[in-house]
Amino acid sequence: MDVKVHELLNQQINKEFYSAYLYLDFSNYFKAKGLDGFANWYMVQAQEERDHAMLFYTYLQNENMPVTLDAIAKPDKVFDSHMAVLQAGLEHEQYVTSLINDIYGAAYDVRDFRTMQFLDWFVKEQGEEETNANDLISKMELFGADPKSLYMLNQELAARVYSAPSLVL
Ligand code: FEO
Repeated sequence: MDVKVHELLNQQINKEFYSAYLYLDFSNYFKAKGLDGFANWYMVQAQEERDHAMLFYTYLQNENMPVTLDAIAKPDKVFDSHMAVLQAGLEHEQYVTSLINDIYGAAYDVRDFRTMQFLDWFVKEQGEEETNANDLISKMELFGADPKSLYMLNQELAARVYSAPSLVL
């Protein structure tokens, strides 16, 4: 495997675990505010991010490439509103999309078609992640200011359940 592609894939393990950590922090924020449904939604999101990390980890192992685990950064943002959390979620997903695109670009440059095929799942997944984050912001804009509507939105988000990723390595 190309040195740059390997480096970026290995870094992505850390980025995805950081994503899990970040969403765990978001879940913690909403739990403290008494919005258990939002807390659940981000807890499920954190579980999905852990899965993403493990997919990169397993892919490298399957390719007989070394895996180096790095320290996970501290989620250090302090939020002054529910909406600020949702916005930070969208910005984070846009950032992750840019990382996936960077790896894809590096793989493309060296004609690493197997890595490109592996990443295809993530390209699609990032589209869904950004859509979900955008939808949440739209719902909060529409309903967040009214306590009854916020209660119902919270109930809706409480129904999200974890399911394992459709990509199996
Ligand atoms: Fe692993 Fe939310 O992207």
